[in-house]
Amino acid sequence: MTNPAPASFWTQANALLRKNLTFQKRNVKTNVQLVLFPVFLCLLLFALQRFIDTQIGGSAFKCGCVCANNTTREHSHCPDSQKVCGVQYSDSLQAAFCAIPNPIEWPPLLQLPAPSSRAVRTPSLPLSDLPDASCRRTDSCPLTLLFTAQNHSFAKNVAANMFGSALSVSDFGSDFLASLAMNVLGSESPPWGNNFIEIAFSSGDPIYYLQKKCTDTEKSGLSFPSLPAADNEIKCAQALNLWRNSSSEINGELYKGYQTGNTDGQVNEIVSAFDFLNSNRNRYNVSIWYNSTYKQGTGFSSNVLLRIPRSINLLSNSYLQFLLGPGTKMLFEFVKEMPKPETSFRLEISSLLGTMFFTWVILQLFPVVLTSLVYEKQQKLRIMMKMHGLGDGPYWMISYGYFLAISIIYMLCFVIFGSLLGLKIFTINDYSIQFVFYFIYINLQIALAFLVASIFSNVKTATVTAYIGVFGTGLLAGFLFQFFVQNTSFPRGWIIVMELYPGFALYRGLYELAQFSFEGSSSETGGMKWQNLSESTNGMKEVLIIMFVEWIMMLFAAFYVDQVLSSGSRKGPLFFLKGFQKRPPFQKLDAQMPVSKVFSQMEKPDVIQEKEKVEQLLLEPTINHAIVCDDLKKVYPGRDGNPDKYAVRGLFLSVPQGECFGMLGPNGAGKTSFINMMIGLTKPTSGMAFVQGLDIRTQMDGIYTTMGVCPQHDLLWESLTGREHLFFYGRLKNLKGSVLTQEVEESLESLNLFHGGVADKQVGKYSGGMKRRLSVAISLIGDPRVVYMDEPSSGLDPASRKNLWNVVKHAKQNRAIILTTHSMEEAEALCDRLGIFVNGNLQCVGNAKELKARYGGTYVFTMTTSSDHEKDVENMVQKLTPNANKIYHLSGTQKFELPKGDVRITDVFQAVDAAKRNFTVSAWGLVDTTLEDVFIKVAREAQAFDTLS
Ligand SMILES: *[C@@H]1O[C@H](CO)[C@@H](O)[C@H](O)[C@H]1NC(C)=O
Ligand SMILES: *[C@@H]1O[C@H](CO)[C@@H](O)[C@H](O)[C@H]1NC(C)=O
Ligand SMILES: *[C@@H]1O[C@H](CO)[C@@H](O)[C@H](O)[C@H]1NC(C)=O
Ligand SMILES: *[C@@H]1O[C@H](CO)[C@@H](O)[C@H](O)[C@H]1NC(C)=O
Repeated sequence: MTNPAPASFWTQANALLRKNLTFQKRNVKTNVQLVLFPVFLCLLLFALQRFIDTQIGGSAFKCGCVCANNTTREHSHCPDSQKVCGVQYSDSLQAAFCAIPNPIEWPPLLQLPAPSSRAVRTPSLPLSDLPDASCRRTDSCPLTLLFTAQNHSFAKNVAANMFGSALSVSDFGSDFLASLAMNVLGSESPPWGNNFIEIAFSSGDPIYYLQKKCTDTEKSGLSFPSLPAADNEIKCAQALNLWRNSSSEINGELYKGYQTGNTDGQVNEIVSAFDFLNSNRNRYNVSIWYNSTYKQGTGFSSNVLLRIPRSINLLSNSYLQFLLGPGTKMLFEFVKEMPKPETSFRLEISSLLGTMFFTWVILQLFPVVLTSLVYEKQQKLRIMMKMHGLGDGPYWMISYGYFLAISIIYMLCFVIFGSLLGLKIFTINDYSIQFVFYFIYINLQIALAFLVASIFSNVKTATVTAYIGVFGTGLLAGFLFQFFVQNTSFPRGWIIVMELYPGFALYRGLYELAQFSFEGSSSETGGMKWQNLSESTNGMKEVLIIMFVEWIMMLFAAFYVDQVLSSGSRKGPLFFLKGFQKRPPFQKLDAQMPVSKVFSQMEKPDVIQEKEKVEQLLLEPTINHAIVCDDLKKVYPGRDGNPDKYAVRGLFLSVPQGECFGMLGPNGAGKTSFINMMIGLTKPTSGMAFVQGLDIRTQMDGIYTTMGVCPQHDLLWESLTGREHLFFYGRLKNLKGSVLTQEVEESLESLNLFHGGVADKQVGKYSGGMKRRLSVAISLIGDPRVVYMDEPSSGLDPASRKNLWNVVKHAKQNRAIILTTHSMEEAEALCDRLGIFVNGNLQCVGNAKELKARYGGTYVFTMTTSSDHEKDVENMVQKLTPNANKIYHLSGTQKFELPKGDVRITDVFQAVDAAKRNFTVSAWGLVDTTLEDVFIKVAREAQAFDTLS
């Protein structure tokens, strides 16, 4: 069979895609759970919204009915006869939501301080013209107004016209308001957001009329017949117009009026103050002080109508009377709103609470992507795929596209379902803005996951960290970041800096969408449109730009880090410059490695011969030799003061096509380090190796296309079947169509994975031996030129092992195989040549027979007798050869090594026959040296030497 060309980009991508799809099919449960999460959350919000709607919508926050007698709202207790429906001015909420086609005319009022806080004489304000503090006890303090001007007499004359001395009121029709306008009315009730209802008349606070002087008779018998809900007490209050020499004096007095401004801890409020400036008969130029504290309303009326107009009218009217005489009146009769339709209040829970929830929902994808990436890394599946020829390009394209597809489906479910439930944040904002925003974000999130995945090597750590990150980000954003965004005095620059963190950028975007939907749900314009992006308060534009730029940068960073880290540091941090760099010079580290020199003096002729062969091969390269290692070394730098560890100390090795080279050696001898270098997991410290003529330092990607690896630990996907594994790796090796099917069937058959439906069972259900056989099948599929098998038969039952041996024997005919094993039987059965590797050095090379002849040189003679005759046996052996060496002795059984040169086998048989006549021999044996003996001997010698040096 001919070796197929390396798989193209699209073939690799196709193979990976098919594998991922199958993988996903098995993963359906997790995926459904993932997609159901936003659905669940939307349902939760929907239920919450319904609950709130029925709570607030049912009664208070829309136009309804009230109970006539007690002003409590309509509940089940109210009998029908007492129900009054439509606008009720006694109920400010009712008035706010009902239709009002004919708004009521309200008399204009002055804003007055409450009796207990009206200005009086105090130690810190010892002005003689202020009233004595005793008036507070009877709630009869006068109301103080201050004035100043450049022309004292002028200002005094004008101020004298402000307040009358008798109450003027008429009881009938429109004359009523006109007559009221002759008086100066005021209230201490805080103002309200509109004039559909003058809250002062329904608040129960008294209405004051201001006079120069109050006489007791005027204090009762007054009502407001044409004003609904006006059953206030009507009281007279004295107005005190006080002259001050300058406006700065007024300022000082106002300041001391505040609790913080004086020392006696009392509030001293004045009604208002006027400065007539340079006014005179021909010029009217006034400034007015008023208390604006009231404008910070509470509850639904965040913007209130301050009661200022009446004070302006008061001044103008006085000035007019000063000019034209007391008969002239400029009346301010009433204030009246425009008519309005019925409105209802809706609290958009998705806009209000949603931002943090939605941030969580979308961030939720991050741990999912991260976990999946780290899983492939932790299980070494990524490197396994790479070793079988999967390039980085297809891997990135398919993985990225795959996560993108999952994210898009997730977000689609989220938005569609939220829209179906009518959550305003989805329905009211422009869908194209939402699409762009979510699309950029999920891309950024995937790129970030790729970057972060390189930090983690453990799925559990990654998952836990990611979820902590997700919830922490949501909370921080909801309680800290939002505070900064809303606080207009916080520097915008810092907010942008915070938005560089993707979680906050996401939050900001959602926040803006929520703001628009919250405002939009109560007005007609509603929702964010593209033209809103240019508004300076709208953070969406900056968020989109930041996220887009970050996405591109993350993508590059992630790719770069992946190249440096995941390839097992084969590529340096500046790998992309390698085209400009010269090839690293051939390094000889001998000067730094004196130990190696000592060893080379000790080297055996077979090892030296191998070295010479390698040097010969390097001079005249031939493709015939699949593997050529030239002085390969691996040194792990010592940490924490430990000396450097020499894992491989200069290895010369050549393996031709068609040979199976067995690597024996005790644990920790450096076999795995050697194989890791050859398969590109680690980089050699010095030296070179060529696989099929390609340099392992620079052309690993080329080597991967003709390489097969059966790693020591099975690297398999638990949820894929054996057949699916073989199809995947077969496709990576560019097998197609019927050839692929045929190869897969053949390898299943040959490795005994075909029967009983094993091939179509998920690998998670395989026994250890089945997994092992599958790993071997994977390493051989697609006819690789070079195959590394790290203890392929460990954990196999004898039958399977025989089976496996047959496969390997068959496979080695047209490729080079390097095999490590601890089973001497296996080494002898499979390998054409063997090398024993101890302490990072090849101790001997050759086929099993040569090694045995060279290192064996003895027979092992065993004899078991009763313990009385042990001495006899010893004597007998002594007679055979004085050089015999007892190596084992236990309750009657003894083992001796007999040098081959000293004894002939016939002598031994004769001696045993003679012995049998003298005493009872229960068993005896004579064997040639086994490979195991050789191995133990070589290892022991090398280690003994090592401890000596
Ligand atoms: C001040 O105003 C009075 C009128 O009230 C006027 O007679 C007088 O001339 C004014 N004084 C000055 C300095 O303008
Ligand atoms: C205001 O000015 C008048 C005359 O210029 C003076 O008699 C009076 O003491 C001043 N009042 C104050 C509080 O300074
Ligand atoms: C302004 O009104 C507020 C609210 O009633 C009050 O607490 C404050 O003392 C007033 N300030 C002055 C200078 O009268
Ligand atoms: C009104 O008074 C202010 C402050 O004294 C002054 O700057 C301004 O010129 C005056 N306006 C007129 C029209 O005289």
